[in-house]
Amino acid sequence: MSTLSVEHLLGIKHLTKEDIHLIFETTDHFKQVINRPIKKVPSLRDITIANLFFENSTRTKLSFEIAQKRLSADVINFSAGQSSLKKGETLIDTVNNILSMKVDMVVMRHPKPGAAEFLMQHVDAKIINAGDGAHEHPTQALLDTYSIREKLGHVEGKKVVIVGDILHSRVALSNIFALQLLGAKVKVCGPKSLIPKYIEELGVEVETNLKKALQWCDVANMLRVQNERMEVSYFPSTREYTQQYGVTKALLDELDKPIVIMHPGPINRGVEITSDVADSNQAIILDQVENGVAIRMAVTYLLASKIKS
Ligand code: CP
Repeated sequence: MSTLSVEHLLGIKHLTKEDIHLIFETTDHFKQVINRPIKKVPSLRDITIANLFFENSTRTKLSFEIAQKRLSADVINFSAGQSSLKKGETLIDTVNNILSMKVDMVVMRHPKPGAAEFLMQHVDAKIINAGDGAHEHPTQALLDTYSIREKLGHVEGKKVVIVGDILHSRVALSNIFALQLLGAKVKVCGPKSLIPKYIEELGVEVETNLKKALQWCDVANMLRVQNERMEVSYFPSTREYTQQYGVTKALLDELDKPIVIMHPGPINRGVEITSDVADSNQAIILDQVENGVAIRMAVTYLLASKIKS
């Protein structure tokens, strides 16, 4: 049986191209399963998974929970706001207490970069990173690249521009790693103040003119401005950001070909994307969310198969 080269999913940086192909093939299978009248398989009925969310989430949290339930795993959910962390308990003590309840796998979102790797070094469970600060969001990149493959047939050779707040985005970094592994060409576009200085060292080109970036690409992945990670303002005003970097129907109509529009969510309608674009046939935003469940089933299933009984 094929198996992943990693014991945990901490980031796309640790995966091989073969790992991603295995995840995609497994996702194809689970996508069929979740579109059947009976959407559940008994694969993980002896596995218990804890979802630990130290930061807000709608899509990722619900998507992991549905994926785990479709695989018949037992699931417990933890939100930092209602926990004993407020009484001074450390992350490691919190997680070890949860693991004492015979938990096999932890899915964690945390505001600090490196939190998932730190956890992996200190606890005895499979770890899936559901987003660690501005570092990585591996399942988002997997569902994004899977959605491009589904829409355009393959990822290799496709031109993808990631637009917006690259500096504070874990989605951007994980997408860059996944797209490059799969042979896509990647550009980033946004105000210079929101593009990290190291980005060109990753083999990514920078384009500050949105119209030129859209004219070049097959796919535009629009990112939200992450105000929650900013201590100062990185551009004069939201209105000026939208004028320069917001994608509108008028802008898309000026291009000489249709392009695919993606967004990881949550969307700020009228800021990085107008409603007529977000709701158009060119946008695959809800397909991304649907594919997220099957991707998370695949990742969970493949890592669970490495748990020693
Ligand atoms: N795309 C994404 O991570 O969304 P949530 O923050 O709602 O999980």
